[in-house]
Amino acid sequence: TNTENQLLIIFGASGDLTARKLVPALFNLYKNGHLPENFVVLGASRSNLSDEDFRRRVVLESKYLEEEIKNGTSKAIQTFSGKIFYTDLGKEYDTDYSDLAERISELNSRFQTDNNYIFYLSTPPSLYEAIAKNICEQGLASEKNGWKRLIVEKPFGYSLESARQLNDGLHEYFKESQIYRIDHYLGKETVQNLLVTRFANSIFEPLWNRNYIHHVEITNAESGGVEKRGGYYDKSGALRDMFQNHLLQIVSLVVMEPPIGADAEEIRNEKVKALKSLRIMRDDKTLRENTIRAQYVSSMIGGKKVKGYREEEGVDPESTTETYAAIKFFVDNWRWADVPFYVRTAKRMPTKVTEVVVHFKTPHHHIFKDSGMNGKDNKLVIRIQPDEGILIKFGVKVPGQGFKVERANLDFYYSSLAETRVMEAYERLLLDAMQGDATLYARADEVEAAWEFVDPILEYWKTSDSKVYGYSAGVWGPENADELIEGLGMWRNPGAN
Ligand code: BG6
Repeated sequence: TNTENQLLIIFGASGDLTARKLVPALFNLYKNGHLPENFVVLGASRSNLSDEDFRRRVVLESKYLEEEIKNGTSKAIQTFSGKIFYTDLGKEYDTDYSDLAERISELNSRFQTDNNYIFYLSTPPSLYEAIAKNICEQGLASEKNGWKRLIVEKPFGYSLESARQLNDGLHEYFKESQIYRIDHYLGKETVQNLLVTRFANSIFEPLWNRNYIHHVEITNAESGGVEKRGGYYDKSGALRDMFQNHLLQIVSLVVMEPPIGADAEEIRNEKVKALKSLRIMRDDKTLRENTIRAQYVSSMIGGKKVKGYREEEGVDPESTTETYAAIKFFVDNWRWADVPFYVRTAKRMPTKVTEVVVHFKTPHHHIFKDSGMNGKDNKLVIRIQPDEGILIKFGVKVPGQGFKVERANLDFYYSSLAETRVMEAYERLLLDAMQGDATLYARADEVEAAWEFVDPILEYWKTSDSKVYGYSAGVWGPENADELIEGLGMWRNPGAN
C-alpha cells in the first residue's frame, strides 16, 4: 500500500507518550523504509520549547532511543530528527489556532506534504472537542485539498454518556471516516491473529460455538502497580482502564461472526454486533454474583515491601477504585447461548501475562473415564503476551498397556518465526492511519456498545451493596474470585504450560 506524503501534528507533544511510544515507532518506520518521501512531524503543546529542544527531548537525547543512539544508527537518527518540529501553542488548547495554522502551512509548502494532515490528540480527553473545533475553524479539517485524519488516544469517555457526548462533539468537526480511535491492543500481532486463527483456518471455526465450547477465560495480568499514574488511575480503575477498551476488543474478536470480507467496515460491523450481544447485567443480584472488584494491599515481594494501592502517590487513602476486576457474563446469540465468559484484569499479579483460553467440553460419551484425564482438558490457549503463541492442549495415550491418557501440547510460538520482526503496536497502528486503514481502530458505535455493557457495572460498584476486596500484591487476586468460576475448577494459572 502506498503511504502518501503527509504532515503529522501531535497535540500534547511534550507529554510522555510522544517520547515513549510515538517517536520511537516513527523512527522504526523510518528506518525500515515505511515513511513516505515527504514526511514531517510537528509537535504542539503548551511548553515553551524550540525545535532543537524538542528534537533533543524526543530523539537525540531520548532514553527511549538510547539503544539506537548507541548502536551506531546516529546518522539515521540525525536525518530523522531533521523531520521533527515543534510549536508552542503559547496559550491554552482552546484558543485560536491561527499561529499554528500558519506554521502548518509553512511546513506543508517547504516539505511538500501535499496538504495531507494527521492530527494526533495526546492531551487530556477533556480537550479533544475544543481542539477539534479549533482545527476545523482554521479550515484544517477540510478535505478539499488533501486528506485530513484525527487520531484520538484513550480514554474514550468515562461512561456511556460521556462517550456519546465526545463522539457527537467530534462529529461536529470531523466525519467518522476521518476519526481513528486508538486501542493499542489492536496493534498487537497476537490480537490481530485472533482473526486469522478463526477465519483463515477450517479446523477451529466448526468447533467455535456452544456445542463444543464449555467456557472462555480471558486473563490480563500485570505485575506492576499503578506506578506514577496514581492520580489518573484513581479516577479510572481497572474496568475503565483495561476492560472497557482492550479486553472488550479481545472479547469482540473471539465472539464475532465471520465477516463477509476483511475490510475495515465489514470487520467492525461484526465486532459491533458481537458487543451488542453481550448480556447487560441490570439488577443488583446479577451484578453481585457476576462481578468482583478488589485492590492490592501492601505485602512483601521478593523480600521487598510493596505499597498497597491506597498508599500509592496520587491515590485517595480511602479510595474504592479497583485494581482487580473479574466479570462473568453471557453472550445472547445463537452461537454462544449459555457459554459463560470469565474475564479478569489486574495490577500487582505474580506475573505479566495476557491470554485467551478456550475450554472445550468433555467428550459427549467418555469411554476413558478412569484414564487419568478428566476430559475437560482440551484447551486452546491464545497467548497474547509475553511468549506470544498458540497452544493446543489435548490427551494422548501413555505408551504401554491399557488406556492411560496424559495431556500433550501442540504449541506454536511466534519466536520460531525468527526472520519476521514483530512490529510494535504503535508502529503498526500509526502506519495504518497514515495509509488510511481504520480496521484496527475502534469505531464510534463499537466504543458506545462497550460502554453500554460496562456502565451498569460501574453504577453498581458505586453502591454500598458492592464490596471491595483486598488481595496481597503478588498473588492471583482475592479468593472470592474463585467463587465466580466455581463448579468449573479454577482459573487457569496463566503462563503455565
Ligand atoms: C494501558 C493502561 O492502556 O495499557 C495501563 O492504561 C496498562 O494501565 C497498559 O498498564 C497495558 O498495556 P500492555 O501493552 O503493557 O499490556
